Amino acid sequence: MRKKAMIVLASLLGLATAIAVTGSMPQAADKASALDIQVKAFLEKMKSRWADLNVPEGDGQLLYDIVLKNNYKKALEIGTSIGHSGIWIAWALSKTGGKLITIEIDESRHKEALAHFREAGLAEYIDARLADAHKLVEELPGPFDFVFSDADKAWYVNYAKAVIPKLLPGGCLAAHNISPGRGGFGGGNGGYFDHMKNLSDFDTSMAADRSSLAVSYKKKAR
Ligand SMILES: C[S@@+](CC[C@H](N)C(=O)[O-])C[C@H]1O[C@@H](n2cnc3c(N)ncnc32)[C@H](O)[C@@H]1O
Repeated sequence: MRKKAMIVLASLLGLATAIAVTGSMPQAADKASALDIQVKAFLEKMKSRWADLNVPEGDGQLLYDIVLKNNYKKALEIGTSIGHSGIWIAWALSKTGGKLITIEIDESRHKEALAHFREAGLAEYIDARLADAHKLVEELPGPFDFVFSDADKAWYVNYAKAVIPKLLPGGCLAAHNISPGRGGFGGGNGGYFDHMKNLSDFDTSMAADRSSLAVSYKKKAR
């Protein structure tokens, strides 16, 4: 009798495990792959249409890789435009369980970005704000583990000063259009690269050969 009860219990446990494996796990995987298909189709459709100062595809891929590799979850983008870089960042955040706040001052670009985020299937991962980043970056409480600076270049150093206290150790501040070739690293953006290089609690470098993305990682406390 006891042996029979043990067999019934073992079968019930097996059934529960089977339901967990075949019922819930595949559903989560299905959702992720359905989103991947939707995002890829949208990026493919838009490939030659990004024309509002948007990052090139290679830099979008770099942003995606940085977020995913470091498992970042609390992201801020300064300068949405119509949403190309935001889509790459939010796509990575959809896999880490994170969310992006992105700021744009121009209303028509902001509205176009909202439509793009919806069409890509990523709207739930993005909080898009229509605002002047000079003010809003100061006001946002953070913390952030990833910040992408891509608005008015002359303000880059000010954005860095405003976000650094809100950046978590191990976090990354990335900045676009940093050109080693033209007028040194600092040309046109108030000496941004040199400013970041001189901060001893950051490791700053270019993200990759031929990219214009500077990345500064906040060192972890020892
Ligand atoms: C280079 S574009 C951003 C491109 C975008 N990151 C992408 O790759 O799709 C810079 C954007 O910053 C916006 N911008 C400039 N100054 C700003 C400010 N003070 N606050 C918010 N956005 C600003 C511009 O309107 C412009 O759309």
